[in-house]
Amino acid sequence: MKLSDTKATLSFSNGSPNVDLPVYQGSVGPDVIDIRKLYAQTGMFTYDPGFMSTAACQSAITFIDGDKGELLYRGYPIEQLATQCDFMETCHLLLYGELPNAEGKQKFSRNVTMHTMVNEQMQFFLRGFRRDAHPMAIMTGLVGALSAFYHDSTDINNPEHREVAAIRLIAKMPTLVAMAYKYSAGQPYMYPQNDLSYAGNFMRMMFATPCEEYQPIEVLVRAMDRIFILHADHEQNASTSTVRLCGSSGTNPFAAIAAGVACLWGPAHGGANEACLNMLYDIQRQGGVDKIGEFIKQVKDKNSGVKLMGFGHRVYKNYDPRAKLMQETCKEVLDNLGLHNDPLFKLAMALEKIALEDEYFVSRKLYPNVDYYSGIVQRAIGIPVSLFTAIFALARTVGWIAQLNEMIGDPEYKIGRPRQLFTGSTKRDIVPISKR
Ligand code: ACO
Repeated sequence: MKLSDTKATLSFSNGSPNVDLPVYQGSVGPDVIDIRKLYAQTGMFTYDPGFMSTAACQSAITFIDGDKGELLYRGYPIEQLATQCDFMETCHLLLYGELPNAEGKQKFSRNVTMHTMVNEQMQFFLRGFRRDAHPMAIMTGLVGALSAFYHDSTDINNPEHREVAAIRLIAKMPTLVAMAYKYSAGQPYMYPQNDLSYAGNFMRMMFATPCEEYQPIEVLVRAMDRIFILHADHEQNASTSTVRLCGSSGTNPFAAIAAGVACLWGPAHGGANEACLNMLYDIQRQGGVDKIGEFIKQVKDKNSGVKLMGFGHRVYKNYDPRAKLMQETCKEVLDNLGLHNDPLFKLAMALEKIALEDEYFVSRKLYPNVDYYSGIVQRAIGIPVSLFTAIFALARTVGWIAQLNEMIGDPEYKIGRPRQLFTGSTKRDIVPISKR
């Protein structure tokens, strides 16, 4: 980051002296006011619940221009990555900063492929879960448990450990998600098959059985790969910030990523894809397109607690570029499967159109986000609704680990420790229990 010629000056109405604060510029995006010495200089903290105006770190990985609806991974527009690269190239880009050449891609993919199996003992750990456990509950447990199985890659301060942990996490996530699915379906686990692509291998582990040959359908494999690319990173979102905060204590990478999985589960974040599809099912059950008006009325009623899931974003105040790409994939997949009249897709399109013309959504700049169409694609591929967020976690793992490694390599990194504005009771003495 570059020190700007501009300085910010903070003044107080009570006569306390002004404080000059340095301003830094990034390569693009808003400048930041450096408040690190503010407490030492003024005895005051800043107050910013939800981090509405706070940059918690510097990062060179992902940039979002929320007003333009632009998303760049290491400078490359998401549209180009989604149409010209695959997930392995995207992983290489996020982790190491550059797209690989053909040889580099082969080497990286091979490296990932060599780590796709998980310790055989993990299936016994998985067996401890109820068959009807939510896949995200299982994933939080399984990812955290990796640190108990791979002791040789848990030292966050050792670059070799970090590298091996990164590759292991990327490689093993599909295996773990597929195992969680097979466990709930009561089917035997399918071992990874390393001559398949990353997405093709995942589809096989999900949908094959030992009883017959499995041929992945190319268009569905491509759709899966695109889902992975679109979800791979998204700068300092809730789960990524969780991973950074968790990792800032020096904990091992598997534990930090497990914390990210737990955070992603919430319906305001990655859980929105599941919540969005359930919302569409609900509207369909109540009468479909004819009931959209009634549903929108509920959404606009602040007392109803109903939200239009898959809409709105903290950063995007324009169409989420990932939603556009996902809508394209949705059409391609449904057409290929002969489902172009899919009632749920039609309902989603009609609901989107009505919302985008409604003053409530227009004035608040609420547009579809990535989760709006991803559920319909995944459902068409045959993925159960409850697994959607686990697939998001699988794809986001590379972003989490790239961000975690970036943080550890940053000379300015410190344990994360937010401050508070205390509003509770001041010091008081305990009254003996008999007198309370
Ligand atoms: N439906 C209805 N109203 C909404 C929605 C929505 N989906 N999203 C925001 N609003 C309204 C809010 O009620 C608020 O209205 P007000 O100004 O009258 O109070 C206004 O729009 C601003 O919204 P905030 O909640 O302040 O925005 P914030 O940045 O805090 O939240 C969030 C962003 C959590 C994504 C929100 O838009 C939301 O809950 N969306 C639905 C869930 C969802 O799709 N999440 C996925 C996000 S993308 C991802 O994680 C992959």
